[in-house]
Amino acid sequence: MNFLGPIKPIARSTDPDAAHRLKPTLSWPHLIALGVGAIVGTGIYTLTGVGAERAGPAVILAFAIAGAVCACAALAYAELATMIPTAGSAYTYTYSVMGETLAWVVGWSLILEYSLACSTVAVGWSGYLVGWLSAVGVHLPAVILNGPHAGGIINLPAVVVSLGIAGMLMAGTRESATFNIFLVVIKLVALAAFVALAIPAFDAQNLHPFMPYGFASHVEGGSTRGVMAAAAIVFFAFYGFDAVATSAEEARNPGRDLTIGIIGSMALCTIIYVLVAIAAIGAMPFTALGQSAEPLALVLRTLGHPFASWAIAGAALVALPSVILVMMYGQSRIFFVMARDGLLPRALAKVSKRTGSPVAVTGMTGIFVAAVAGFFRLDEIAELANAGTLIAFIAVGACMMILRRRAPEVRRVFRCPQPYVVGTAAILGCVYLLFSLPEKTLVRFAIWNLIGLAAYFAYGRSHSLLGRVKAVRV
Ligand code: ALA
Repeated sequence: MNFLGPIKPIARSTDPDAAHRLKPTLSWPHLIALGVGAIVGTGIYTLTGVGAERAGPAVILAFAIAGAVCACAALAYAELATMIPTAGSAYTYTYSVMGETLAWVVGWSLILEYSLACSTVAVGWSGYLVGWLSAVGVHLPAVILNGPHAGGIINLPAVVVSLGIAGMLMAGTRESATFNIFLVVIKLVALAAFVALAIPAFDAQNLHPFMPYGFASHVEGGSTRGVMAAAAIVFFAFYGFDAVATSAEEARNPGRDLTIGIIGSMALCTIIYVLVAIAAIGAMPFTALGQSAEPLALVLRTLGHPFASWAIAGAALVALPSVILVMMYGQSRIFFVMARDGLLPRALAKVSKRTGSPVAVTGMTGIFVAAVAGFFRLDEIAELANAGTLIAFIAVGACMMILRRRAPEVRRVFRCPQPYVVGTAAILGCVYLLFSLPEKTLVRFAIWNLIGLAAYFAYGRSHSLLGRVKAVRV
């Protein structure tokens, strides 16, 4: 066995028996809703302001750059998802292309993407809840609203929403995905209303100077600035479409439905974000926008629409849990597949006969997400989530190109156009975004990966199902 570990054959990978197989219950409307449900969330509702602070009006450009990089990654995802329709997405693709060790690294990074994104959104949701309740005169004690980093004990609302959603997922995939469609409609209507109300106030003066802090990420006055610094943070707003790929094993018709699900949700969200950014930046000076924790509500209040401002905040409160729902769904499937492969304890891969969902692993995911949400800071969690996601996207771009060379004969239901141009653009774009993140985040990310590799060599490598099969054969 070489250092990179065994390679999983491309097929319904380990050909699981019935007790370890997920039920195919999802069709394309569910998958588009899963994608949009995961994509539109805290990123557009709150990070537009942070992006404006880092890039000025050029936050519009930052959204376009992050969207373009994600679109390249989405095309690579779509090709791989229809070629290797097994739960586990980037982790499984890497396992089949580059071997177990790198697959572990990607799986370990996906934990950051999915779990930390859930935790980030749970903390953001908690903030909205606090604002919402205080507007009606209900004030919760501060010690149960913040983790120890802000002088509290625990962020209880964030914990409650995380555990509540884990409970829904444990009750069964189908019901959760259908409920998700309802939430998706609410947040899209809210964003459409925002654009409709803000665009009439568009003033081209607000776009000058367009790029006050330049292009590249750099530290200026103690803060990270530049269009790329903004792109590295608003990148958070785009991902989630890959959660659709993690549901491949549960899609009724993976070939057609996954393609529609991934590309459709990605394209829809890019259009919406650029419109929202143009409407927000055009409506008021970016300096005011950059200082707000609720920039979209602020714009509407400033434009004299207090009711709409209140309603959009309410929509965020109702709809943000759909992001947690989809990301937690994706995370539980990643853990599930890693456990099924033997890299994590195999008891976690048991599927409930009644609901068809992996109950133990979903519960464990919920507890992990709730623990992080209860005790850590929102911005730092979000940046680490971005780092993990970028690694997964880099792996997907590389796997797509390697398979084009290594296995050109394998049938691809969806073929990425210009695969080498798109794959290379995805990889270079993600590397540039990764190194535009603050240095502190990169150091934490390196530490996370060292811990992961230690866990792999201490447990995963010796328990790997594929590794053991190979060892017996030899
Ligand atoms: N894209 C998701 C969001 O913006 C993670 O909340």
